[in-house]
Amino acid sequence: MEQRKEIAKRRTFGIISHPDAGKTTLTEKLLLFGGAIQSAGAVKNNKIKKTATSDFMEIEKQRGISVATSVLAFNYGDHIVNILDTPGHKDFAEDTYRTLTAVDSVILVIDCVKGVEEQTRKLMQVCRLRNTPVIIFINKMDRDGKDPYDLLDELEEELKISVRPLSWPINMGKKFKGVYLLHNDSLNLFEANKTKLSKEVVKVDDINDSSLDEMIGEQDAEKLREDVELINGVYEPLDREMYKEGLLAPVFFGSAINNFGVKELLDTFVEIAPEPQPRQTDKRPVDPFESKFTGFVFKIHANLDPNHRDRIAFLRVCSGTFERNTFYNHTRLGKKLRFNNPYNFLAQSKSVIDEAFPGDVIGLYDTGNFKIGDTLTEGEELQYKGIPSFSPEIFKEVINKDPMKSKQLEKGIEQLTDEGVAQLYRQEPGNRKYIGAVGELQFEVIKYRLEHEYNASVDLVPMSFHKACWMTGDEAKIDEFCKYRAQEIVLDKDGNRVYLAQTAFTLQMARQNNPDITFHETSEFKVGSDQ
Ligand code: G4P
Repeated sequence: MEQRKEIAKRRTFGIISHPDAGKTTLTEKLLLFGGAIQSAGAVKNNKIKKTATSDFMEIEKQRGISVATSVLAFNYGDHIVNILDTPGHKDFAEDTYRTLTAVDSVILVIDCVKGVEEQTRKLMQVCRLRNTPVIIFINKMDRDGKDPYDLLDELEEELKISVRPLSWPINMGKKFKGVYLLHNDSLNLFEANKTKLSKEVVKVDDINDSSLDEMIGEQDAEKLREDVELINGVYEPLDREMYKEGLLAPVFFGSAINNFGVKELLDTFVEIAPEPQPRQTDKRPVDPFESKFTGFVFKIHANLDPNHRDRIAFLRVCSGTFERNTFYNHTRLGKKLRFNNPYNFLAQSKSVIDEAFPGDVIGLYDTGNFKIGDTLTEGEELQYKGIPSFSPEIFKEVINKDPMKSKQLEKGIEQLTDEGVAQLYRQEPGNRKYIGAVGELQFEVIKYRLEHEYNASVDLVPMSFHKACWMTGDEAKIDEFCKYRAQEIVLDKDGNRVYLAQTAFTLQMARQNNPDITFHETSEFKVGSDQ
């Protein structure tokens, strides 16, 4: 019974956006409303970026890019809110995709001036693959942005999802007066304020009453009445089931920097967002209410202190109750492991926990047992699915500059690729190593960390490959293909054969000439919308 209650309390979600739309600011404000931090605005945004998230790698600090995915948990009323923060930089998109496997819903932040942007589209594609429920927050309403009706059309068209506004702006930019909350007929008047939480909302019993004219002026009141009538005429009331199936996105308007519209967002979020949901494994779906513990690792992070080689594995609890000092089955290794100091991320201060429930994310100290996607259970042999590797877009060969340090290099590359910083491919015979990543920045991170943490120095030499493709189909045909294309066949970390296609054209030809082989651009074929 207690477990059922604990599960119902939890809301585990990610905030996603194109860089600069306001994800960090919104995260900060949610923490503020959740009481996890005491003041906003007073703390400079940049400083928050460094302290509120776990971006502790030197390179991140230097660049001010939030590379790391972090977890921020807080209590809000009767709920426990777990925010899984994601890096905004596109070079770390894969990190973000993996994090999205561990959430039950997302909040998508849109800049009202820019509308839907490149990363927004890509991230939504990943959400659609998993039918992840989405709430949209249209930010920066204190700026002159696109017309709200146009924005809604753009969202529907570009993100291929139906929308339902739950709040409606009264003007924008300098003339922005606030939002009308359509779901409970009340008015939230705007006051630019970076440090204070927004004021009480005003209940509007009758939108036609002249008190509305007094509050926002006759002209705007008239326009608002028209808008509200139009919206309520065009859009059906919010269908929560459609939202939970990822088919319909409620939309809010606000200004994160001014703490405006954030409370309404959070209140609605905890009310309608799904509690921890069942998840698919290679054997069967696992329900969070099952009594036996299961969970999977979606992120591995280098330790804060580079002198300590241990790492932190972020594990999402999926079913049962995780308990400290209890032996669990690491299903990939067939090994029993127990954890003395598992910790949670409540209010940003790590504290050791005795138990954790579905929806929670816990940090486990790891001395090299975990890879991303690993599953822990109470004994059952199953493996969580849905943490695919995507084909990298840039490939480089690793050349050891210091033969005396090859052991360090091997270890460093092994560990960094276990963390999911990039993908490692080996070519047999000859043991040539290639690293594949989606952005240049990842190579810089690898080079930097190999030097600083492993004392190994490398050259990373660009290779002209276009895509890495995993293969399924007729085994004999695959063997034959690999023999014939030996120069372009490598092994991934799990020993799977991967075809490195040199160009889009060669890949197309390979597909055409080998109808019995399917070439996949993600390592997990049922999930990916590849090809
Ligand atoms: P990100 O994490 O999505 O990359 O975005 P972030 O929150 O860092 O916000 C990007 C910029 O947008 C920041 O300005 C931030 O202050 C600003 N911003 C966020 N919300 C609003 C809003 O509601 N209205 C307006 N006008 N601006 C907003 P910056 O100049 O890049 O950084 P900073 O100097 O303010 O820290």
